[in-house]
Amino acid sequence: MKVFAHRGASGDYPENTILAFDKALELDIYGLELDVHKSKDGHLVVIHDEDIQRTFKGKGLVADYTLAELKKFNCRKFEFIENLNCKIPTLREVFELIKNTDITLNIEAKTDLIHSDLEQDILDLIKEYNFEEKTLISSFNHECIKIFKNLNNNLKYGALYGCKNDYASESNVVEHARKLGVYSINISKDLITKEMVDLAHENGLKIFVYTVNTPIIMRKMIEFNVDGVFSDYPDLMNEIIKEN
Ligand code: G3P
Ligand code: MG
Repeated sequence: MKVFAHRGASGDYPENTILAFDKALELDIYGLELDVHKSKDGHLVVIHDEDIQRTFKGKGLVADYTLAELKKFNCRKFEFIENLNCKIPTLREVFELIKNTDITLNIEAKTDLIHSDLEQDILDLIKEYNFEEKTLISSFNHECIKIFKNLNNNLKYGALYGCKNDYASESNVVEHARKLGVYSINISKDLITKEMVDLAHENGLKIFVYTVNTPIIMRKMIEFNVDGVFSDYPDLMNEIIKEN
């Protein structure tokens, strides 16, 4: 069972920050998951929402600020407001953090609402750091995955599914992912069934499930034999795995 720290150790630390990633690296994890957007001046930045206001003390869209402007915002979580490791990181900063580790990085390209042509930039950075073997690129935007695959078909890609509509064009999610030609199905815990996992495995596809945060769901994912989970509490997930 591969355990990804979802947005870092985000259950205890501000999500998608260097602090949350650093704390996750202290745990026994397989990988980090993070979300990527592009700033106004073309930098790849790690933040979940298009709008900064939920997680940072400021207003406006990531796409409307330069990196220097984005770096000025303090995080919203009270205990971490002054923490310099709780600013909006660049993807490059996270690459620096993990470059001497064997951690896998799931880079989620957030292009559903604002598509900022970040595909080539992400691929260039992966190439620069020789991270081809240690990255999994995913997106809810399956057109974005097609763009990635057209640019480089030798990397691992994961198709994200959040509701049944995301694969409605095919008879089932496995068929949808197979046609897209991805390595993994990255699917919501609310959609996953044991039959889906078995069918995915029969078709040579991996199944990674998000966001797995409670013991009951954690045990269910072990029982379903999924390949991995994204959890805000990777340590709790490890504890549950050890029960077996
Ligand atoms: O990549 C798994 C998961 O992060 C997808 O949903 O909204 O948490 O980015 P979200
Ligand atoms: Mg994500």
